[in-house]
Amino acid sequence: MTTKRPEAETVSFRIENRIAWVKFNRPEKRNCMSPSINRRMLEVLDELEFHVGVGVLILTGEGTAWSAGMDLQEYFRETEAKGLVGTRKAQREAYTWWRRLRNYQKPTIAMVNGWCFGGGYGPLFACDLAFAAEEAQFGLSEINWGILPGGGATKVAVDLMSMRDAMFHAMTGEPISGKTAAAWKLVNEAVPLAQLQARVEEVANILLKKNPFALKATKDAVRRVKEMTYENAEDYLIRAQEAANSFDNEGRKEGIRQFLDEKSYKPGTGTYDTTKQKPKV
Ligand code: COA
Repeated sequence: MTTKRPEAETVSFRIENRIAWVKFNRPEKRNCMSPSINRRMLEVLDELEFHVGVGVLILTGEGTAWSAGMDLQEYFRETEAKGLVGTRKAQREAYTWWRRLRNYQKPTIAMVNGWCFGGGYGPLFACDLAFAAEEAQFGLSEINWGILPGGGATKVAVDLMSMRDAMFHAMTGEPISGKTAAAWKLVNEAVPLAQLQARVEEVANILLKKNPFALKATKDAVRRVKEMTYENAEDYLIRAQEAANSFDNEGRKEGIRQFLDEKSYKPGTGTYDTTKQKPKV
């Protein structure tokens, strides 16, 4: 038994070169999600969402785990002992930060450094992009301890994987490597652990060069249109672009100007220089 980590220390973060590195910080418990970590994560996300020094948020784990899912002791056993009110409160604390992350203002990347189980699929799905160590292990382990994959985990598997892979994953509870997770589309890519941080930083730096208003509108659009008919998506995308223009009407004009008039870049192969744009207040 280890001493309980103070709530404030269950998540750590630092900001470097406009990247916020946010870490599940309960390595001794394989970063499993207790009510404390869930509450603290929401506070950290709140603090960083509109921070002017942050352009991209990366979510990773301290130690050998990304997250070993929900805490069987503190999230399940202890809250269930408080009855329905305890259970619902704990669920709300978890689901609230995952939802916040799914709709986050800044682009988000999951950097899966190790174990990723069950409830961990909630924040994994919430991140816009996901990169894993080939050595990482993913699993819908719920069936192994006698429940169905709840907390959105089944939905995540079905949304991201083929029906056959999702069914196999959920019914057998057999872990898969980062490499297989990439092949099954649970993550974008898997690279050896030693190269993971460099690869994720490379991708973060690509995102940092983009127009942030266009990025937010784009990530929302990708999530929303999946559920729509073509007609509805077409309409939504018109409205979404017009709404984005109300926050940033100069960005696209500057992008067009640099291509057509200045001839300083080609949109097909690169990004316009957003630093030449008048800063938004
Ligand atoms: N809930 C509660 N405690 C957990 C936990 C979880 N999900 N995952 C790990 N821990 C605790 C262990 O009980 C242990 O605590 P202790 O030191 O007080 O005994 C500590 O974290 C270290 O775990 P351990 O199992 O010794 O580490 P490991 O590196 O050998 O194995 C795992 C790592 C992730 C394979 C293993 O801990 C595991 O199977 N965890 C449960 C995963 C799971 O099913 N999660 C789904 C929940 S929805």
